Amino acid sequence: MNNDLSLSKIGLGTWLIGGDVVANEQNDDEKDINAIIYAINNGINHIDTSESYSNGKSEEIVGQALRHIDRKTVFIATKVREWNLQYDDLINSCYNSLKRLQTEYIDLYYIHKQNPNIDIKETCRALNYLLDKGLIKEIGLSNVGISTIKKYNKYLNKKIYAVQNQYNLICRESQNKKIIEYCTNNSIKFIAWRPIVLSYPGVKDKFYSEGTYPILDRISKKYNKTNIQVAIKWLTQQNNVYIIFKSNNINHINQILETNNFSLLKEDWDILNTDFPVTFNKGCTENEFFEVS
Ligand SMILES: NC(=O)c1ccc[n+]([C@@H]2O[C@H](COP(=O)([O-])OP(=O)(O)OC[C@H]3O[C@@H](n4cnc5c(N)ncnc54)[C@H](OP(=O)(O)O)[C@@H]3O)[C@@H](O)[C@H]2O)c1
Repeated sequence: MNNDLSLSKIGLGTWLIGGDVVANEQNDDEKDINAIIYAINNGINHIDTSESYSNGKSEEIVGQALRHIDRKTVFIATKVREWNLQYDDLINSCYNSLKRLQTEYIDLYYIHKQNPNIDIKETCRALNYLLDKGLIKEIGLSNVGISTIKKYNKYLNKKIYAVQNQYNLICRESQNKKIIEYCTNNSIKFIAWRPIVLSYPGVKDKFYSEGTYPILDRISKKYNKTNIQVAIKWLTQQNNVYIIFKSNNINHINQILETNNFSLLKEDWDILNTDFPVTFNKGCTENEFFEVS
């Protein structure tokens, strides 16, 4: 890791930057690049991407933004997909990410999701090789539970640096299964993905729209903040919880950055924690492998 950097609590995600599953040839790349540069110049030093976001184009856009920034001041996280976890595939994926990102090293390299058909030992061998070569500085796991974190730590030459799971007011799996607590006790950073958009079946809410959750409306009004800002603050106020949100809209980025300037009173944080009307004990889609042997 770039040891000089202290990770900002608020990081920028890049899912839907450059397309979605595939690259969008009509994408406004300049808007995305400018948003990333703006975020970095305004205190966000953590950018999150993946080899699969817009089929590599998201990494390319991050790489283009990096050309305008002093590389040492930014912490770049990317991910290898679960179908590339065999030794040669993983190393190949990493080289391709480095090329798209136009960088000599990746600060944090995640296993994006688990694959029960590939032996963790083999995956760890490839990760250890990349660490030895200095091509990756830290290793992370995404969409995992505690027993899988322990398994990786058995075979890695460097302990897991970060765990990235879905976590927000609705999705409480990492809280209820004590994954966040485990991470904190073991000096692993907990990164909350999808802090804003809620897209569970049966839940109509998107962007925490007003009128959906009266307790959120009430607390937001009390602090003169938007529902999104309060939902973000509920996360970032927690010890060892870091967020990555996506935006290529400067006003939206500013709104999220503004959350650095206020705190929720404990009583309001507690109300949101205990009384939020809809919570689910799952963080990924149901068919993902949260724990692997
Ligand atoms: N590890 C994994 O499996 C995994 C899975 C999903 C996501 N992630 C990571 O987590 C990041 C965040 O998740 P996400 O992108 O799915 O969802 P998100 O960050 O919760 O929500 C993004 C959406 O919120 C909007 N938005 C952002 N700020 C806003 C504001 N202040 N007011 C109103 N709308 C606002 C964005 O639109 P605008 O762009 O128009 O602002 C975008 O539509 C991803 O980008 C990715 O890096 C990881």
